[in-house]
Amino acid sequence: MLGNISSVQVVEAIDVVELAEGWRAQKGLAGGGVVIDMGYDMLDQLVGLFGRRFEVQHAAVMKTRLGSYDVEDTAHISVTFGDSVNATIFLSHSGIRSEEKISIIGEKGILTLGGELVRLSLCDKGGKLTPHEQYTVHEPSALLLERGLASFIGSPNDWDLDKDVAVMQLVDEIYRVGSSQVESQTALNPLEKTWSWPKVTPDVERAISEQLHNTLSIYNNDGIFGKFEETFRTFSDTPSYHALLHNSGTNALHVLYYASGLTAGDEVIVPVYTFHATVSPLMHLGVKPVFIDAHPETGNMDPSKIASAITYKTKAVIATHMWGVPWAMKEIGDICRNNGILLLEDCSHAHGASINGKKVGTFGDGAAWSIQGDKVLLHGHYNKRCKSEIPKDHPLQDFAVTGAGLKNRAHPLAIAVAHNQLKILPKILDRKSQCAAHFIETLASIPFLKAPVLESGSDGVDSRALCAKIHCAWNEAHIYPEFNQASLRRGPLQTSVRDLGHVYAPDMYAGEWKAADFPGAVTFHSQVIKLPVWAYEEDWATVKACARAMLDVARECIKTPLN
Ligand SMILES: Cc1ncc(COP(=O)(O)O)c(C=O)c1O
Repeated sequence: MLGNISSVQVVEAIDVVELAEGWRAQKGLAGGGVVIDMGYDMLDQLVGLFGRRFEVQHAAVMKTRLGSYDVEDTAHISVTFGDSVNATIFLSHSGIRSEEKISIIGEKGILTLGGELVRLSLCDKGGKLTPHEQYTVHEPSALLLERGLASFIGSPNDWDLDKDVAVMQLVDEIYRVGSSQVESQTALNPLEKTWSWPKVTPDVERAISEQLHNTLSIYNNDGIFGKFEETFRTFSDTPSYHALLHNSGTNALHVLYYASGLTAGDEVIVPVYTFHATVSPLMHLGVKPVFIDAHPETGNMDPSKIASAITYKTKAVIATHMWGVPWAMKEIGDICRNNGILLLEDCSHAHGASINGKKVGTFGDGAAWSIQGDKVLLHGHYNKRCKSEIPKDHPLQDFAVTGAGLKNRAHPLAIAVAHNQLKILPKILDRKSQCAAHFIETLASIPFLKAPVLESGSDGVDSRALCAKIHCAWNEAHIYPEFNQASLRRGPLQTSVRDLGHVYAPDMYAGEWKAADFPGAVTFHSQVIKLPVWAYEEDWATVKACARAMLDVARECIKTPLN
């Protein structure tokens, strides 16, 4: 009926949720990967129909998920049968949805079998294809193929037991041609992609090269330092601030405290849940940190705990905008004003974030940003403290040239890169925002995962900037411990959800600290997971694969009742 066949296209895909843990991923049990498991019957049909003279033109057999297994879960195969039939076969255990479809293209027409649908288009006398004839059948198409396909394209007369040997040879040949791809599985697995940037573009290379040929030593705010400080002040909506680049966020915090006039015997109220660098520089000035518990839902400093911690020695509060989500800054600002103390900000996670259009760094009396390699803006460990055109008698002057004799200013090469990144920062933030939105959307149906908690009355919060934080934080009072375990096994957590390294254990600094004193921080720390939000368009496949994998794992967890 179809005349001579020129090509065949086959798609067979299913989505096996816990693939790495099931028999399908074990060579000993499955005999191989998707080619053996799902492809064997189909290849048997094709050999039966088109003969044993075949040549594998191309085979890409790959592993698209993380996990300790070494069989392929996806295969793209191209085989020529005889002199004229080209077969294209796609097999997958990791399909987005289950699909089974076969199209056979002959000189007289096209036959497509897909699920329960049979579509037949035949050529008229002039050689033009007629509109589809469509039938619904009540048998899966593979069965239909087995029973009835031969009648559409003519009965093959060479079906015998030797055919099985030919099918095995075909399978062997597919593995032989495709084997290099299974071995180089890391390159093919988007989930293996680590979150590393900036991307080294020609612009970045040019910026470094120009700086190399310019100078590698800047003592004041000449050249690239002045340019960066100026651009950053504009970006941060702090045009009237003094800005001073340092070689790390930690040093920027140190100079922020120094320039704020803090001296030995003073007390500063600090968040208990933050990176240690928010606190450690205080110790070098002899200042006592007074730790405040975190709000269990946001991880940020709980404003209701601040007033009772203020003493006559308290000179300042420093707030960290944890994971890029600023919160309760108005309440904290009011407390500081009412008590005549400074409000300082550690904006290291939150470049560009804002509340009601007001950017972080503008809420208080001074701020520090890290631009270390994990941060929204990077390169190297080069940091700044705002307020510019530093007057001669300003305490920042002590650090402006030699870093108070410690030479802790930035390196020009790194600032050349950071300056380049700063120019594209709005674009980076937008993309990160899209990634965060994708994670939130994909996982919205999972009851035990929650998107980051935003400021109440959050319609005024600039969620574009908020979502563009360095990590997407999720928390839930009853988070399934199995979720973390299973996700780790499945893969995405290995590269994308990292353990919380942030110190909320201030016993390094305050001997009397007890976990029971900070239940909010302990709760948040034990329940939050972090997802990276990538920055470039070409990361989109990674983002989707990661979100999808998390969804699979979460769905599996839901099947297990909570104890
Ligand atoms: C909240 C916070 N503050 C300060 C720092 C210190 O920055 P840097 O590593 O550039 O010294 C970090 C670094 O991770 C941080 O997370």
